[in-house]
Amino acid sequence: MSEIETLVKELADKHGRKRESLIPILQGVVEKERYLSDEAMTEIARELDIAAAQVYGTATFYSFLDTVPRGKYVIRICKTISCSMKNGNEVIKAISDILKIQVGETTPDKKFTLLEANCLGWCHKGPAMLINDTPYTELTPQKVREIIAEYKRK
Ligand code: FES
Repeated sequence: MSEIETLVKELADKHGRKRESLIPILQGVVEKERYLSDEAMTEIARELDIAAAQVYGTATFYSFLDTVPRGKYVIRICKTISCSMKNGNEVIKAISDILKIQVGETTPDKKFTLLEANCLGWCHKGPAMLINDTPYTELTPQKVREIIAEYKRK
């Protein structure tokens, strides 16, 4: 059994094999694999006995599900109003300059992906970003430089 087959089977055992199990299973795969491959989607369809097109449609409809490979560290920077009013755009520009990628892109070494996100719930301490699951707040260009340098050393 391939790794992805085992993972999908484990997730289906945990969440069930009904229609409403589809989203938790998709999320589980993204959490583990960091994206959703064609192989994973085909496997989910087989395990849940539904059409692959249905899996694909659901995955793309809920665009939080990544369908392309992401970097090891996914940076999600808040683009919502409270953060952008506190110079959030300068912070986005600083990250983009440091990593030499635009929003939506991944560095060639596959270490970082830069994405924009809607409000992360840290508005009172904006600008805010997440690196994987870790929040960073009250960002400035200088602060993100230090944070990213730390991740580069990891
Ligand atoms: Fe940025 Fe809420 S507006 S975290």
